[in-house]
Amino acid sequence: MNSDTGEGRFAGMYDLAFNPVLKHVHQRIVQLMKNYECQSIVDLGSGTGALARVLTKNGFSVTGIDASSQMIAVAREKSPDSIRFIHADINSINHADMMFDAANISLVLHPNSAETITKIVMKAKNLIKPDGVIFITDYGNGTGFSGKIASGLMQMIESFTREDHRRNYFSFMKLKGIHMFSSWHELSVIENYHYFHGALQTIIVKFEKK
Ligand SMILES: C[S@@+](CC[C@H](N)C(=O)[O-])C[C@H]1O[C@@H](n2cnc3c(N)ncnc32)[C@H](O)[C@@H]1O
Repeated sequence: MNSDTGEGRFAGMYDLAFNPVLKHVHQRIVQLMKNYECQSIVDLGSGTGALARVLTKNGFSVTGIDASSQMIAVAREKSPDSIRFIHADINSINHADMMFDAANISLVLHPNSAETITKIVMKAKNLIKPDGVIFITDYGNGTGFSGKIASGLMQMIESFTREDHRRNYFSFMKLKGIHMFSSWHELSVIENYHYFHGALQTIIVKFEKK
């Protein structure tokens, strides 16, 4: 496939730069996936595969999907063969032969447009079993003095990204960031975890059964 994402340029140094922070998020997600008794996980926008590797070490079966060839290359190089990595745009995935207990979407929504965000979340819904859960980690509004500082720092990091990524990040935050899902039709936020005083959050969502 030819499409690629801006983050791919940083694939070689992504883990070095972000894992010290993200490892706490990954540990939380592993614990939550255990609580929900998930076994098979699809990690949408799996990046360098850091979360996929932690999940695999904890006994989960993981498939990672990412549109960046550089991210997929790093993920494959660093990971055991038991993890399947698919190089594809999430929205081009044909889900007829795939069905997971849970989908994970970490730091993938904010670089995308509102229209693509909706498509990604609907794709996640179609990739999981009817009672499956979706884990979303992304930016929220940090509260209090420390939260505002943390949100400001994250905004500063996002200001250095590629033009389309930056524009989508600001639109995402205008739409209330991760808080937007509280008002989504047919979607219930069943749990919510804060890091950095809410500047980064993990929510667990479920689509209501019809
Ligand atoms: C900021 S990185 C996050 C990586 C990883 N999930 C993490 O938490 O460290 C965002 C990743 O999402 C991927 N991505 C963004 N939009 C995508 C899409 N529409 N389809 C597939 N991958 C996508 C990018 O290529 C990148 O690897």
